Amino acid sequence: MSSLAGRVALVTGGSRGIGKAVAEQLAEAGAAVAVLSTTEPGSLAVADALRTRGARALGLAADVADAGALDEAVASVERALGPVDVLVNDAGVALRRPLSEMTDADWDRVLAVNLSGPFYLCRRCVPAMAERRWGRVVNVSSISGRLGTPGMTAYCASKWGLNGFTQALAAEVKARNVLVAAVLPGSTDTDMLKGSGWEPEMAPADVARVVTFLCTEAPLAMSGSLVEMFG
Ligand SMILES: NC(=O)c1ccc[n+]([C@@H]2O[C@H](COP(=O)([O-])OP(=O)(O)OC[C@H]3O[C@@H](n4cnc5c(N)ncnc54)[C@H](OP(=O)(O)O)[C@@H]3O)[C@@H](O)[C@H]2O)c1
Repeated sequence: MSSLAGRVALVTGGSRGIGKAVAEQLAEAGAAVAVLSTTEPGSLAVADALRTRGARALGLAADVADAGALDEAVASVERALGPVDVLVNDAGVALRRPLSEMTDADWDRVLAVNLSGPFYLCRRCVPAMAERRWGRVVNVSSISGRLGTPGMTAYCASKWGLNGFTQALAAEVKARNVLVAAVLPGSTDTDMLKGSGWEPEMAPADVARVVTFLCTEAPLAMSGSLVEMFG
């Protein structure tokens, strides 16, 4: 695995599940890692554990649906660790509810967290990556960004949207050596899957290995890829 020594990574949703495994593997690859989630105990605990293993790490609390809070969070990362070279937009929420029972607020919240959050962070971090002529952005989408899952209209819309956002941004910044890609996992053994009725097909570390590959060894030619992890 290529080394991320000297690079700074920001992982949203890093307090548990897939994001936590990504934070661990990016630290293992040598990156300084900022871990962001809405609840500080979770992100601080992951950052503490990374530091115990010898990594530079920072735990942060912010809601990815809040653009102002993200600006402050990124400024904290820059002060503590340096400019963000690797951005993993993993934070997400799943809503399982039939359309007839959904409120406007349900729809807005899922779109705000799963789609607007990655936009806010890319807008804040990617122009500087392009200026420095190196950057890696991985958006954690879902196989529900390819398929229509009943009872998950807002979630599917957010992940289909995230895929389109990923490909458009990839085309915008590829010439500046910034790789932008998405990973589309199937059922993964995390809190989010609990109660869904689906059996886990893989562990968070399996998804993290693919994310880490995209942040390290993947050739720039893979920019814009939507990497499916679904048999
Ligand atoms: N598990 C699956 O089967 C599966 C399959 C396909 C795709 N995915 C995608 O993978 C990503 C991670 O999911 P997971 O399964 O690891 O879920 P998870 O175990 O529920 O973890 C979600 C993470 O996102 C954080 N988060 C949630 N809302 C947030 C917000 N508004 N602002 C900041 N952080 C927030 C959570 O921390 P706090 O609660 O502390 O904020 C937590 O760290 C999601 O984008 C999900 O859609 C999951």
